[in-house]
Amino acid sequence: MSDIRRLPPNSIIGIFGGGQLGRMTALAAARLGYKCHIYAPEQDIPASQVSAATTRASWDDADALEEFARAVDVVTLEFENVPVAAVRRVAAITSVHPGAGVLEICQDRILEKAFLNRIGIATAPWAEVTGLPSLTAAETRLGRPAVLKSARFGYDGKGQAKLIPGAEAAQVLDAVGADRSILEGFIDFALEVSVMVARGQDGEIAAWPAVENRHVNHILDTTIAPARVSPAVVAEADRIARHIAAEIGLIGVMGVEMFVTRDDRVLVNEMAPRVHNSGHWTIDACTTSQFEQLVRIVCGLPLGSTERHSDAVMKNLVGDEVDAWPGILAEPGACLHLYGKAETRPGRKMGHVTRLTPRKGR
Ligand SMILES: Nc1ncnc2c1ncn2[C@@H]1O[C@H](COP(=O)(O)OP(=O)(O)O)[C@@H](O)[C@H]1O
Ligand SMILES: [Mg+2]
Repeated sequence: MSDIRRLPPNSIIGIFGGGQLGRMTALAAARLGYKCHIYAPEQDIPASQVSAATTRASWDDADALEEFARAVDVVTLEFENVPVAAVRRVAAITSVHPGAGVLEICQDRILEKAFLNRIGIATAPWAEVTGLPSLTAAETRLGRPAVLKSARFGYDGKGQAKLIPGAEAAQVLDAVGADRSILEGFIDFALEVSVMVARGQDGEIAAWPAVENRHVNHILDTTIAPARVSPAVVAEADRIARHIAAEIGLIGVMGVEMFVTRDDRVLVNEMAPRVHNSGHWTIDACTTSQFEQLVRIVCGLPLGSTERHSDAVMKNLVGDEVDAWPGILAEPGACLHLYGKAETRPGRKMGHVTRLTPRKGR
C-alpha cells in the first residue's frame, strides 16, 4: 500500500507501558537506530532505563497524552489494558499500532471468545455470567469443573476461580468479584502452546513456530521451542494464528495462547495483541526477534525472517529465582536477560534465561 510511512532511523517510537516488554522493545529499537519514549503511570519503569524519554502520567491525563502524541512519530504498546479512550486520544494525533479496535476485543474475554467463534475458531465452551442466576444457567450447560474468569483485567491467573464439584457457586462468584465474567468449560488439555504472529501495515504475515508453555502458580515458567507436537498440530496452530491476525486487522505482533487436547484438537484460550512472554526465546534463537519485528512493523519496514537457527528453552526468573544469575552467566549456551527492576517480590518477573541447543528437525 502506498500510504505506509517508512520512518527513518532516529525517529521516535512511543510505547504505552513501561515493563520488561517495553524494555526489550526499546533495546531492539535502539539496535535499528530508533529512539523510544515511554508512557506509563508506574513509579518503577524498567523500560525507561533504556529509553530516550519517559512521560510518567496516568492513563486519563488528556494533556500528557496529547503532548506525548506530538513528541513521537508513531505509538505502539506493550500492555494490552491501556484504556481505549487513551488510545483514541493519541490516535487522533499520530498512528497507534495495534489500533483501538483490536484492543477492545482483546481486553474483554467475552468479546474475544465471541470474535474467535464468529471467525470459525474453536474455543472452550463458554457463557457470559452477570450474577448468580446466569452462573447457575451457565453451569447447567457447561458442567463442572469449569473456570470462572473476570471478563476484564485478568493476568497470570488473577481474577479466576475454578468451579469444582461440591464448591458453592456463590463463593466462586465472590472470589472472582466481577460484574461481568465468563464461565468456561474446563479443558483437560495435553499441553499448552502459543504462536507469535506478526502482521505488517501492508498485511504481510509472519509467524514463529508454535512453542510449548508450562505454567507454575498460573505464571509462565518455561517455554520450549519448538513445541513437541505433531506436524499437523504445528500447522493447525500456525493457520489459526494467521487467520486471527488477518481477521482482526492486526498491525503489530500478537501472542495466541492455545490448548492442545488429548485427541490433538487445537482450541484458542486467549490472545494478547503485543509481544508476549512466550516469544522471548526469539531474541536469542531466531534471525528476527518478536521485538525487532514489532519495531519493523510500526516503522513501516519490511518484516524480518522468523527463521530459527537454534532450539531453545526459556525459563522465567520469577521472584528470588533471579538470585541464580551469577551461575547462569557461567553456563555455556545460556543467554541471560535481567529487567533492572528495583525490588524483587514473590511472583514478579525479574528476568529470564534462554538456553540454546543446535536446531533439530523442521
Ligand atoms: N478453560 C480452561 N480449561 C483448563 N485450563 C484453563 C482454562 N482457562 C485457563 N486455564 C489455565 O489457566 C491459565 C491462565 O488462564 P488464561 O485464560 O490464560 O488467563 P491469564 O490472563 O491469567 O493468562 C491457562 O494458561 C491455563 O493453564
Ligand atoms: Mg494466559
